[in-house]
Amino acid sequence: MATSFTPVEHVLSGRYVGKNVNVRGWVYRKRESKKTIFIIVRDATGVVQCTIKRESSAWDAAERVTIESSINLSGTVNRDARAPGGYEVSTDELRIVGLAAIFPITEDQSTEFLRDVRHLWLRSRKLTTVMKVRSETLRFVDDFFRESGFMEVSPPMFISSACEGGATLFGLKYFDRELYLTQSAQLHLEALIYSLEKVYCVAPSFRAEKSRTIRHLTEYWHVEAEQAFATIEDMMSLEEDLVSHVCQNVAEKCKSELKALKVDPKRLAKIKPPFSRITYDDAIERLQKGGFEIQWGEDFGFNEEKALAREFGRPLFVYAYPKEIKAFYCKTYRANPKLAMSVDLIVPRIGELTTGGARVDDEKELLGRINELGLRKEDYDWYIDLRRYGTVPHAGFGLGVERLLAWMLKLENIMETIPFPRTVRRYYP
Ligand code: 4AD
Ligand code: MG
Repeated sequence: MATSFTPVEHVLSGRYVGKNVNVRGWVYRKRESKKTIFIIVRDATGVVQCTIKRESSAWDAAERVTIESSINLSGTVNRDARAPGGYEVSTDELRIVGLAAIFPITEDQSTEFLRDVRHLWLRSRKLTTVMKVRSETLRFVDDFFRESGFMEVSPPMFISSACEGGATLFGLKYFDRELYLTQSAQLHLEALIYSLEKVYCVAPSFRAEKSRTIRHLTEYWHVEAEQAFATIEDMMSLEEDLVSHVCQNVAEKCKSELKALKVDPKRLAKIKPPFSRITYDDAIERLQKGGFEIQWGEDFGFNEEKALAREFGRPLFVYAYPKEIKAFYCKTYRANPKLAMSVDLIVPRIGELTTGGARVDDEKELLGRINELGLRKEDYDWYIDLRRYGTVPHAGFGLGVERLLAWMLKLENIMETIPFPRTVRRYYP
């Protein structure tokens, strides 16, 4: 049997017409007539139709082979307008590598069932395509930060005190004491700016999030950046540049994936800086005019965010929030200490995509915030140290990878953007 194989994508390039190729992959579809068996073979790069004639020595194996069996085959490439992709392989040798039992996934199964068999549903065209865009998106994020002079760092996942409040903290037994899973790498990234100045990470964050919405997971991937000597305005520029960079690269370099997912690349290519910026006050006024009962001082829910984003039709920054609805580390405006230098980026359909802003850089002010919120100072001693030894104004932000993908690809739920989604009810497989 062959030792070198041609990826399906290459078979479909046209370069192999009339030539013999070896292909390996899985049986995606199978159809049988009296004289011919049609097998659609899937590999990581695409699907191609392979035909086996009754007189061929491959016939017996082709007859036996089942959906999702793994196979090797060799044959000649022909042009065929009726075949998906326009080419087919006239097969004269076929070897079964792993004969599959009856595959449990057939057409028209419920979303719930497909999530139960996620380990198998990952083979679907849709999830395969989304995972390719996910991989590319992570590459574009890395390219962006490296080109912008940021250094990638690796923060811890075990932590001893909350970053985003106790309500969504996952506790865990760590030898004989209780620790938590990180909600955000922010506090640890802050420690790293004193040596590296501009840092970023792409890492899991965990939220004991009971809300069952299309945009909440209990484990998600978090792109976070932190920068010394930076302001909230610098973060808005950095975020809009990052999001635009990713959208434009996806539009340009993931054309076939976008086509398969029925996403118009023009919609993504249009995402360019600058994004609109409105204050929290302005947002409240717009919402009240639009019939929402929200009062100044309250946080936006999913519906409020969606309404704001719909009004603008594109990504929108909302900044200067009441400090009570933002975290303890948020710096406030000197001219109006009721307001936090915190900014959310909101996008249509998904709502909040990022939160960022300037951090308290004064030791006394930070101690004041920690007291006000009833947090234990000893839990944050190391974090307070960062204000004792060469403090600098600084800012950062966090972006949810799954929300970014769901927004770009117009997916109905962020569960479709991660291989094994974790929610309140889902942790298997
Ligand atoms: O708004 P969050 O909670 O902000 C922080 O954690 C900051 N410490 C980030 C920072 O400044 N470094 O989370 C940031 C982003 C949200 O805007 C959202 O995109 C995503 O993380 N996110 C979630 N994504 C999926 N499921 C959840 N349960 C999420 N919670 C937050
Ligand atoms: Mg937030």
